Amino acid sequence: MSEKKFKDIHASRRAILKGLLGAAGAGALGCMVVPFGTIKSPSGKKKRQKIVKGDKLVYAVGPNAGKEIKVSDLALNKGTLAFPKGKEEHNNLIVLFHAKESEFQKPTKLNYITKGFCAYSAICTHMGCTVEWYPEKQFSFDFPHLFCPCHQSVYDVFHGAKVLAGPAPRPLPQLPLMISDEVIAAAGDFDGPIGPLPGGK
Ligand code: FES
Repeated sequence: MSEKKFKDIHASRRAILKGLLGAAGAGALGCMVVPFGTIKSPSGKKKRQKIVKGDKLVYAVGPNAGKEIKVSDLALNKGTLAFPKGKEEHNNLIVLFHAKESEFQKPTKLNYITKGFCAYSAICTHMGCTVEWYPEKQFSFDFPHLFCPCHQSVYDVFHGAKVLAGPAPRPLPQLPLMISDEVIAAAGDFDGPIGPLPGGK
């Protein structure tokens, strides 16, 4: 697809989003609207609680918020926003999804994936908005991807969340996963810094 067409499509997408967000004044409120709910932006400079091996994942939003996420909850191509249990803070926000294991390629850390479950930080590396899981075709991307509605960055979930489009300067950090008592859990912390870095790198 030509760069112009991509920009045109995103301009119309932006207009739709602007309309949707305008009424609620989401930007002014400092919140990110996501398909699963609304996540507050970080406030202050409180240090993040690190994620450690065995931290079970819980739903971040929606009617099941706070409930542990079982392996049987997420069918293929389903995704959700999650937190490590007991460490529910913005910078620990995770996007978790389920896909065929054979789809994942390096630089995805294949040993971080368990039974087709994969997780990345949900904090966009551009300016920190919440990314969304898109299992189906959107624009010219006819494969599952992560999309940031703020400035239309697109991340390739099957190649280490590398940036396919938009202003995001680097991939989303990946979270190692394991299964604990049929619940999806972290096997450690993210493999890189979360969200935007000073200097926009
Ligand atoms: S904050 Fe995600 S693209 Fe700008």
